[in-house]
Amino acid sequence: MRVALTGATGFLGLRLVRALLERHDSLTVLAHAGSDRALGRITRFMELTGAPPALISELPRRLSIVEIDLRRPRLGLSPDAFRRLADELDVIWHSAGNINLDDDLAQLRRVNVEGTRSVLELAAAGIRRPLVHHIGTAFVGGARREGVVYEDELDGRHGFENSYERSKYEAEVLVHEWARAHGRPVVVMRPSVLVTDLAPNPELPPHPLQFLSRIVRASLRSGGLTPGEVPEERRPVVRMAGHPRGHLNLLPVEHAVSVMTRLASRPPSGRVDVYHVVHDHDVATTVLTALLERMVPVKVRLVEKRPEAPGSLEATADLYPGFTPYLSHRRRFDDTRVRNLLGPPASGIRVDLDYLAAGIDPG
Ligand SMILES: NC(=O)c1ccc[n+]([C@@H]2O[C@H](COP(=O)([O-])OP(=O)(O)OC[C@H]3O[C@@H](n4cnc5c(N)ncnc54)[C@H](OP(=O)(O)O)[C@@H]3O)[C@@H](O)[C@H]2O)c1
Repeated sequence: MRVALTGATGFLGLRLVRALLERHDSLTVLAHAGSDRALGRITRFMELTGAPPALISELPRRLSIVEIDLRRPRLGLSPDAFRRLADELDVIWHSAGNINLDDDLAQLRRVNVEGTRSVLELAAAGIRRPLVHHIGTAFVGGARREGVVYEDELDGRHGFENSYERSKYEAEVLVHEWARAHGRPVVVMRPSVLVTDLAPNPELPPHPLQFLSRIVRASLRSGGLTPGEVPEERRPVVRMAGHPRGHLNLLPVEHAVSVMTRLASRPPSGRVDVYHVVHDHDVATTVLTALLERMVPVKVRLVEKRPEAPGSLEATADLYPGFTPYLSHRRRFDDTRVRNLLGPPASGIRVDLDYLAAGIDPG
């Protein structure tokens, strides 16, 4: 069985490479053209995460690299190369994307929506009718902050917290339309926020909370604050919009990959199978604010609305505005379909303050 993967050099994709190589002898890596050498980055990931030396030495033989660009028609391949690639494949995992919550919508659409369109065209062209595993996000649920989001829901009526959510929603709509029009099955995996407790390393891609921590730290430093032990009473208060009983779903990336590959080993229903790949316990908003307080010597006070006249520190703390609304979320993602197939989640990993702190830069 010939399997291809986009986004193999990403935070999630690198783990998918390792998991897919446990199941398949070879893997076609659809690597980002013009980006850094994919094979070297994958090899370095395997070395840094303790993969067996035998696996590392086999990588050049077992991985074939095809450079693509999601922003270009036919993924930037010639018509011949596109068809040859399409005809080789039985399965396409589509994990590549732009995950910058606050990027310009047009940029996000080019990668996340038009890129998905091209991946679906590749699947449509393939003589072996490759099965697409589309990596979506639980956040296609949009700006609905309370209640339960179900796996069979996909509607934009609540609006979106940021342009990333909108682009991923549009991509998933495209997947459903394509499946209907072509009478083809698709598997959509919708993870929540992916995290790790692996210490950050400049040679590895950052995860969303790590990215957030870098922005907040840099901006608060530029506002005159430096990390270190500062007594509680000397910490400046930073008001941030959020709900005191809010919660957010954060999932260890290794667990997400294990669920995804187990789901992928099930025969598809013939329609679009959507799965919420989520943790069974959410993380309280207050844990996230405690994490922020560990990063920088401030005292976070959650308030109902974004302060109308924010102080300079408050303005800099909100430099990743696409993320801040999640401090107000109290919704839950229903994952009944996943539980019905795989049983209750068995990650066994508690995502708490210490776990999260281990996975972000120490200071
Ligand atoms: N991380 C999360 O918490 C999370 C949560 C839910 C869903 N997801 C979804 O999971 C998927 C993977 O996320 P991730 O965390 O692994 O993201 P990531 O670390 O930012 O990796 C993105 C991947 O996409 C590739 N890529 C970017 N632009 C491309 C282009 N124009 N053409 C071809 N490849 C391109 C990147 O290649 P280069 O590195 O070489 O540029 C990289 O391999 C995304 O679809 C995301 O929406 C992620």
